[in-house]
Amino acid sequence: MQKTQTYIQQHQNRFLEELLDMLRIASISADPAYKDDVARTAEFVAEKLRIAGADNVEVVPTAGHPIVYGEKLIDPNKPTVLVYGHYDVQPADPLELWTSGPFDPVIKKTEIHPDGAIFARGSCDDKGQMYMHVKAFEAMLASGELPCNVKFMIEGEEEVGSVNLGTFLENNKEKLACDVILISDTSIIANDTPSITVGLRGLSYVEVEVTGANRDLHSGVYGGAVANPINILSKMIASMQDENNHITIPGFYDEVLPVSAPERKAMNEAPFNEKTYMTDLGIGSVHGEAGYTTLERTSIRPTLDCNGIWGGYIGDGAKTVLPSKAFAKISMRLVPNQDPDKITDLFARHFKAIAPPSVQVEVRAHHGGLPVVTPTDTPEYKAAAKAMATTFGKEPIPQRGGGSIPIVALFESILGVKSVLMGFGLDSDNLHSPNENYGLFNFYKGIETIPYFYQYYTELK
Ligand code: BES
Ligand code: MN
Ligand code: MN
Repeated sequence: MQKTQTYIQQHQNRFLEELLDMLRIASISADPAYKDDVARTAEFVAEKLRIAGADNVEVVPTAGHPIVYGEKLIDPNKPTVLVYGHYDVQPADPLELWTSGPFDPVIKKTEIHPDGAIFARGSCDDKGQMYMHVKAFEAMLASGELPCNVKFMIEGEEEVGSVNLGTFLENNKEKLACDVILISDTSIIANDTPSITVGLRGLSYVEVEVTGANRDLHSGVYGGAVANPINILSKMIASMQDENNHITIPGFYDEVLPVSAPERKAMNEAPFNEKTYMTDLGIGSVHGEAGYTTLERTSIRPTLDCNGIWGGYIGDGAKTVLPSKAFAKISMRLVPNQDPDKITDLFARHFKAIAPPSVQVEVRAHHGGLPVVTPTDTPEYKAAAKAMATTFGKEPIPQRGGGSIPIVALFESILGVKSVLMGFGLDSDNLHSPNENYGLFNFYKGIETIPYFYQYYTELK
């Protein structure tokens, strides 16, 4: 991969400029107002794949946002790697907390990224990480060093649950046939501590509505005699965790696979400094389920979190009102073998059961996703580990991640193919938060490492 590495060095400034161009397009999949920007980003990715030399590049429309596909098939006797990534991003709000515009990328030096980091929504999750693959592919092809077949499938709905991608997999099994799926949409432990993600949590996401009286009321005239749905909802949410921060929904833990003591011991040997963690987040103490460490709480244990809660008067000044309705969005992160549909059902039943007769409640299910664990005794894990060891000069640590990528479980159930999660971001890169950023070190390290993955995978497979 020597020629490839030289090519990467010679073109690194252009690679960065192109990424910055893509980051200027606000591809927010959740907000219909940005539909055209999402479509423009798909075209941008397709065009870059074409220029890099991919064949049969297309922008495939779906019931939602389009999927970008492209391929380079060089030899039917060689393995085929399918690269998955997403070009959509999370909404950028709250805007006032950004130190520069979310779609106006700038490079700034930080303590963690002394060589500079790209500040923009999607810089790390996942435009920056996805684009490393497009550039590594370009470099291998231009250098005549592409060792195997490659397919790209880059979607625009990951941040809204990949709701249309499952159908695309079902309908295109042959076209997507491959030996492994390669994904960079996760993190490493630190820039001097590489790791490979070997698990993702699943997700069940619901929205609830609590209704008291049939209209907003004067809180003096009626207050004290009529249920306040905001008060009630707050109590209901609070009651869903006990004094040990154990989730109280009956049956919630029934399917959770126990993790063996040696496995727990191993995961707690990963480098992790709780003091630094607390300082970075500005918290006086960590908080979570009794009996588990922070690393365990964020990987092998399920959670329940309120993501948003609203109702009543939130304008300037004070309005004395007893609101008619209160709402909340609640997510539950799941671990093997919890099933998102079953968990949503358990939640709905419990929520209705604990509602007092003074209110009416409704539960609406959003998207979900299954948890995954990926094995380490496979050619793809070994190839990823060897590639990272080559470029970081250090053996990577296998680590289960806390986030979710819903399509990964479907890759296995629909296509029958396993994924390797070779991400290059840092958990502290502010994904989904204001001031998302991605280190230049990480961007270039990814582009440098990916070609070695192809080489070692082709050798080991
Ligand atoms: N890239 C993240 C998932 C992730 C981040 C995994 C860091 C591991 C480490 C992905 O884009 C994401 O945010 N997924 C959503 C899924 C949801 C919208 C269905 C998530 O985890 O909230
Ligand atoms: Mn992502
Ligand atoms: Mn994300």
